[in-house]
Amino acid sequence: MDGWRWLILTFLALQGIGFTNTEYYSSTEQMIDLIALDKELQIKFELYIYKELEHVQALFRVLRHVKNTIPAISETFISNPLTAYKFIEMLINKWNLIEEHISQSPSLEFIEYLDMAHEMLPDEEDLFGVALGLFRVQEIYNLYPEDVIRKMSAATQLSTDDAVLMSKVAYRNKNYKIAYMWLNETFKRLEKGDAAEVEVFELARLLASSSFIQGHVQLAIDATKLILEHDQHNEAAWFQQLEYRIHQITHEADPKVDPREPSNQSYQAMCRWEANRLSPQRQKMLFCRYSNGGGNPHLIYSPMKEEDEWDNPRIIRYHNFITDKEIDHLKKVAKSKLQRSETSPNIISNIRVSKSAFLSEEDQGVYDVTRRIEDVTGLDMETAEPLQVANYGIGGHYSPHLDLLSKEEEEIRHGNRMATFQIYMSDVELGGATVFPTIGATLKIQKGSAVLWYNLLYSGEHDVRSLHAGCPVYLGNKWIATKWIHGYGQEFRRRCSLSELD
Ligand SMILES: *[C@@H]1O[C@H](CO)[C@@H](O)[C@H](O)[C@H]1NC(C)=O
Ligand SMILES: *[C@@H]1O[C@H](CO)[C@@H](O)[C@H](O)[C@H]1NC(C)=O
Repeated sequence: MDGWRWLILTFLALQGIGFTNTEYYSSTEQMIDLIALDKELQIKFELYIYKELEHVQALFRVLRHVKNTIPAISETFISNPLTAYKFIEMLINKWNLIEEHISQSPSLEFIEYLDMAHEMLPDEEDLFGVALGLFRVQEIYNLYPEDVIRKMSAATQLSTDDAVLMSKVAYRNKNYKIAYMWLNETFKRLEKGDAAEVEVFELARLLASSSFIQGHVQLAIDATKLILEHDQHNEAAWFQQLEYRIHQITHEADPKVDPREPSNQSYQAMCRWEANRLSPQRQKMLFCRYSNGGGNPHLIYSPMKEEDEWDNPRIIRYHNFITDKEIDHLKKVAKSKLQRSETSPNIISNIRVSKSAFLSEEDQGVYDVTRRIEDVTGLDMETAEPLQVANYGIGGHYSPHLDLLSKEEEEIRHGNRMATFQIYMSDVELGGATVFPTIGATLKIQKGSAVLWYNLLYSGEHDVRSLHAGCPVYLGNKWIATKWIHGYGQEFRRRCSLSELD
């Protein structure tokens, strides 16, 4: 038994999986580990079957042995004390032998192994987390079920039962627009004659309810008609329809838009690159230049390529800030430490779906990156927070927020987060952009580059224009590293030229 335990622990250590990190959906990197875990379990299962075969063969040998060596017994044995003695002895030995062999079944050991493996396997919460990630992506990137299905690999098929499941999870999560979309998809499939293990009444009821909640009363009435088509005498449906009709008479008309229309809040529109608010005139005024950090000796011979991403407030991008090799190192150091990201100390929430870890400066690679941030920004790293590496999960995102600390934390940490230096450690195929909804800026995730912005005005006041968000990742594995640079002691180092409005 200890052998198994040891094997699992070794396997986990090799994969960099920690026992506390059994939530998978919030980190794509850790989802990748599941592929290896699944392979490993399958190999163990196969080995177990071979052991089971050997075991069955051993049982046959016992059976043959018992049949061949133990003579047939008749009642005459029992009447003679000596043979009775031998008879009893034989019975005891025979069944002890059989029991002993059966108890050597490898299944006991394998079940124990599976029990332990369960701790590392994903659970319902992961399934729910992945579904919510998908809904987030659908909502923000304006994807109907048919778009999602088209993007799936040819090897996987989405059944009508899956569509039903999606509807139910969305409905349960009070995401009525997405529930409506998936119900609509389900009915489309049912009309085409797809077989499914579904209860049409139940689905039509959900369709009516999710239409009504969104203000589409006519669609809700149509849904009750669907029920009555199948079952004319469904009283609940008659009453429901009556209620909707009364509502229709006494309330305003339904909104004219398609119930599947995407939400048009600026954050969503910006994630779709629809709302970049930089006029061509302003665009022309942005510069690209080589900087040596104001004569910093570390940059004299290899100046950093700096580009203005935004004019006011200024957002700067540093190209080729970090090499692929350095990125691999940071990921490696971070991987075993990744924990679900918190929004504020000890608070885990769906507004931030990622895993992150603070890295120690004692690691030379981490130290080098920090020194380079100091060189290119000219800001002191003495009071900065340790570098934080984050990996996003399925539909992983960070809703609009300010990078500011509470008053108490500000005291402990020597001032507030004056500036944010964000390093992009991967490209993202689709989605995942960094957006600033107040000013209308969308920044591309570009591997190797880094961006800098200020969260405080020169006066020390909060700059609300620094409100920003990480859009949901649609396709890809997003890795970033963040350095929060603190105000204390920087009053004279911050370059006035960074923002004219300071
Ligand atoms: C599904 O959506 C389409 C397009 O909006 C609409 O015509 C159809 O009636 C909907 N089906 C159901 C069952 O709601
Ligand atoms: C949503 O916003 C975009 C960009 O601001 C605009 O072009 C579009 O007309 C808006 N759509 C709706 C339905 O308001």
